[in-house]
This record gives sequence, C-alpha cells and structure tokens, in this order.
Amino acid sequence: MRKNIIAGNWKMNTTLPEGLALAKGLNEALIGKALACDVVIGVPFIHLATIAGAIDTAKIGVAAQNCADKEKGAYTGEVSAAMIASTGAKYVILGHSERRQYYHETSATLKTKVNLALANGLTPIFCIGEVLEEREKGKHFDVVDEQISNALFDLPAEEFARLVIAYEPVWAIGTGRTATADQAQEIHAHIRQTIAAKYGDDLAAETTILYGGSMNAENAKDLVAKPDVDGGLIGGASLSVGKFLPIIEAF
Ligand code: 13P
Repeated sequence: MRKNIIAGNWKMNTTLPEGLALAKGLNEALIGKALACDVVIGVPFIHLATIAGAIDTAKIGVAAQNCADKEKGAYTGEVSAAMIASTGAKYVILGHSERRQYYHETSATLKTKVNLALANGLTPIFCIGEVLEEREKGKHFDVVDEQISNALFDLPAEEFARLVIAYEPVWAIGTGRTATADQAQEIHAHIRQTIAAKYGDDLAAETTILYGGSMNAENAKDLVAKPDVDGGLIGGASLSVGKFLPIIEAF
C-alpha cells in the first residue's frame, strides 16, 4: 500500500552507544506527535536488536542496510534475512548505489536478496538511480528502467506490492547537490509508468517511491509536495535528531 515514508540510512556511522542514543533521542522526540508519514531508521547490523528492543517499533520501523544473498550456512561474515527479521527489524535497504559500486552488487544478486527478504517478511527498500554521466547523456530513464526490470520484474504482482522503491541519483548522494523537486517528480512519474506498464495502473498507484540524495530540512518540503514523491531516504541528515525531525515534519 502506498505510504508516506521518511527513512534514515545511517550507513557505516555510529558506535553502538552512539546509535542507541540517536535512536532513543528520535523515539523521544516523536512521542505525542501525530505524524503524516511512517518513520524508518536504517542502522548497522550490530545495532539492530538493541535498537529494536529500545524504541517503539510501531512508531519507528527498524531497517538493515543489506542482507546476504544466501539463506544460511557457511558464508563467513554474512547476515541473513532471517537473522535480520529475528531482531525485530521490519525493513531492509537493498541495492544502494554504495553497495553496487563498492561491493559490486549486480541485479542478479539483488534479485536473490529481494526474494530472501520477502520470504522472511521484511520490506525491501529497493534503491535505484543513475550516475552523473548517465544523467548528462540523458540515459537516466533507461538506467532506472533496467535496474527495476532486471531485479524486480520476475516478482509476482502480490510480491512486488510489498516493496518500497527509492530513487537515489548517485550524483546527489552526499554531495549537497539535490535533484530539484521537478527533476525528482519527472523521474518518479516515469518510474511509476514503468511499473504500470508491467503490473498495471492500480499497483503502480499503490507503490511507494522515495527520493534520496542530499535531502534536508530546507529542500524536503518542496520534494515531498510533488505528487509522485512519497517521502525520502536520508543519509547525512538522519544522523542527528535536530536535522531528521524537520524532514519527518515536512509532510
Ligand atoms: P545523503 O542524504 O547523505 O546524500 O545520502 C543519501 C543516501 O544515500 C541515502 O541512502
């Protein structure tokens, strides 16, 4: 079902005590507030259980930032979707451009990860987005279409309906250079059309599509005001309650 969501992606930041303090601080800041969006925090693996046990997870969903592409077994250092689900986490960020770029994740691997996440009751927040060169060559629409179709379009409609999509132009991540609200709207509408062409208008209209890339308290209002922008996936500005809260309140 289509929802407004503001999700933080802490990436590889915060020790466990720091992360716990941040999560508790956010939890406290949201007490008694009527929110117009769901709130999610994507935390390091080792924080998952502690944070899920320390906050109101009905109010703040907890997400992992990755999961293994194997179910279980002799894969030293990996963390499975089942393990993530067992901590109380409800979401998993998959296909982030940093995972694609630095850890060589391909659509084939991501397809497996998405299936395992869904099979274990997790909601994948599936990231797509073009690099600067692709945007400058006008290829961004093709790039996102390919990323979606290669990893996701083998899913039956009822499984696809459980996903959240996050459009994150790589040139906007951590650079301070946000896509304009019009640029975000243009490509979000395109993504929705691509989904409609495969699964039909109703499912496309029910799909949550987040924007990510240098989203902050200043630009959040304009971005979420766009009809096809259903919220955000926020990196840097999710690392302090003072910066994250105004984005949550942008709805
Ligand atoms: P920034 O908000 O720091 O640009 O990061 C965006 C992002 O990559 C969220 O997944």
